[in-house]
Amino acid sequence: MLNNKELTKAIIRSQHTQRNWDLSKSIPDEDLKVMLDCVTHCPSKQNFAFYKVHVIKNRETIENIHELSMGLGYKDENNERIECTNPQTLANVLFVFEDEDLSKSYTNKSAGVGKGGSYRDAENEELYMRDVHMAMGIASGYLNIISSIMGYDTGCCACFHEPEIRELLGLKNKVELIMGIGFKDPNRERRSHHVLDVKIPRRVKEKIQVNTMH
Ligand SMILES: Cc1cc2nc3c(=O)[nH]c(=O)nc-3n(C[C@H](O)[C@H](O)[C@H](O)COP(=O)(O)O)c2cc1C
Repeated sequence: MLNNKELTKAIIRSQHTQRNWDLSKSIPDEDLKVMLDCVTHCPSKQNFAFYKVHVIKNRETIENIHELSMGLGYKDENNERIECTNPQTLANVLFVFEDEDLSKSYTNKSAGVGKGGSYRDAENEELYMRDVHMAMGIASGYLNIISSIMGYDTGCCACFHEPEIRELLGLKNKVELIMGIGFKDPNRERRSHHVLDVKIPRRVKEKIQVNTMH
C-alpha cells in the first residue's frame, strides 16, 4: 500500500504527458490485465457500456497511429509555430477509446431516462454524448492513475486525424481519445519528442477552485 506522499506523487506523475519511451521493455500481461480492469470495472451511469476500448500492442499499427496524430505545436528558433505529431502515441501500448452506440440496445423507457423513443435520437443526442464522454473520462482517469501507481508513465492524445485512425483500425464509431502507457526513456527529458529533435512546450496546470463547505 502506498503512503499518502507516494499517492500524491503518482497523481502528479499521471497529470504529465510522457513524450519519449523505452521500447526495449514490454508491459507484462498481468499488468495489462489490471489496466483492462480499470476500463471495464470503473463506474458508469446505470452500468451501461458507453464506449469500447482497443488495446494496441502491434508496433507497426502504433507507428501508423502516431503518423496520424498531428495537432501538437512547438515554437522554432524564429518563434514560428510548427505543427508536429503527438509522441505520446508512440508508447509501449496504446489504449484507444471509441464511442459506443447504444441506440439499438435501449429505448428511453428501458434506460429509465424518459417515456418513449430511442435512448439515442436527435432529441437527446447531446445528453447521450454527455454520458458517453463522462463514462470515457472516468475510465481513462482510472486507467491513468492506476497505471501511474503501478510505475508506468502515460500520455493522453485527443488531437489526431480521427476519420483516418478510425479507418486504419477498422472501427465503426468515433475515436475520442488515445492513451499511451509505458516505460519512459530514462536517458531523456520527459518533454523531448520521441522521434523529432524538439522539446514540447507545456502549460502550467491551472488552479482548480475547491470550496470546502462547513
Ligand atoms: C483528455 C486529454 C487529452 C489530451 N490531449 C492531448 C493532445 O492531443 N496533445 C497533447 O500534446 N497533449 C494532450 N493532453 C495532455 C495535456 O495537455 C498535458 O498533459 C497537460 O497540459 C500537462 O502538460 P505536461 O504534460 O507537459 O506537463 C491531453 C490530456 C488529456 C487529459
